[in-house]
Amino acid sequence: MRTDRTSAADAPSLEGDETHALFNRELAAYRKIVGENLMFHREVYGLLHDVLSREMPRPFKFLDIACGDAVASAAALKGTSIDRYYGLDLSARSLQLATEALKALPCPVELRCCDFVGALADWAEPVDVVWIGMSLHHLQPEGKIGLIEDVHDALSRSGIFLIWEPTLLEGESRDEWLDRFSACRAAFASVTDDEFAAMESHMRLADFPEPAETWMAMGHQAGFGKAEQLFMMPNRLGRVFKYWK
Ligand SMILES: C[S@@+](CC[C@H](N)C(=O)[O-])C[C@H]1O[C@@H](n2cnc3c(N)ncnc32)[C@H](O)[C@@H]1O
Repeated sequence: MRTDRTSAADAPSLEGDETHALFNRELAAYRKIVGENLMFHREVYGLLHDVLSREMPRPFKFLDIACGDAVASAAALKGTSIDRYYGLDLSARSLQLATEALKALPCPVELRCCDFVGALADWAEPVDVVWIGMSLHHLQPEGKIGLIEDVHDALSRSGIFLIWEPTLLEGESRDEWLDRFSACRAAFASVTDDEFAAMESHMRLADFPEPAETWMAMGHQAGFGKAEQLFMMPNRLGRVFKYWK
């Protein structure tokens, strides 16, 4: 494995001590949630593995937008024909962890510590698969469509775009969706009250789910010819969609 550019270690620390500590606590809580499969990472990334194995038999370039610690992505990519991995994330600490997790891949790995919106607007290397897990929903509708347009431009002709994002049920409002998450408290038994409260307040501030039809319509608006839903989380809070040209 080659790490062409791992900005994680070089990134200037822009955060104050308190913000830094808060972020590390949130990262630790998120890793616990993933480890306990409370958000169904196992099913979602298992599905990603199956799609890549079935639809990408030839060497492919993979862009992981908001990769975080990339532990789940590394597992999904194991045994596929991956030829090059690009990972983008704002968090230097997550990228340090990603460097370790991705050592298992038999291909060059490039991690960039950056805002994915700017990075995609300037993206120059064609890729075959773009994946974004639980991160596009932080943007407002125009931002979501703009990002999907940039992904469309970055993809090769036979490339595919996959997203796993919070999704409203038919006729459901954002507040109702947030309340539905809060009602899952019992299922998050391994998370402390403080950790759960931090998740809830982050979501009330920064999560903007869309209905399934809107997620798919945004793909069409951004230039994709086809869009389909591949999966719904058993708690019905989020879904996986695939787009292609
Ligand atoms: C909920 S985690 C998702 C991690 C992983 N993709 C997954 O499926 O579990 C969200 C990640 O998005 C990153 N992130 C959020 N907004 C970002 C942005 N504008 N640019 C780059 N990374 C961002 C965070 O640092 C965090 O690692």
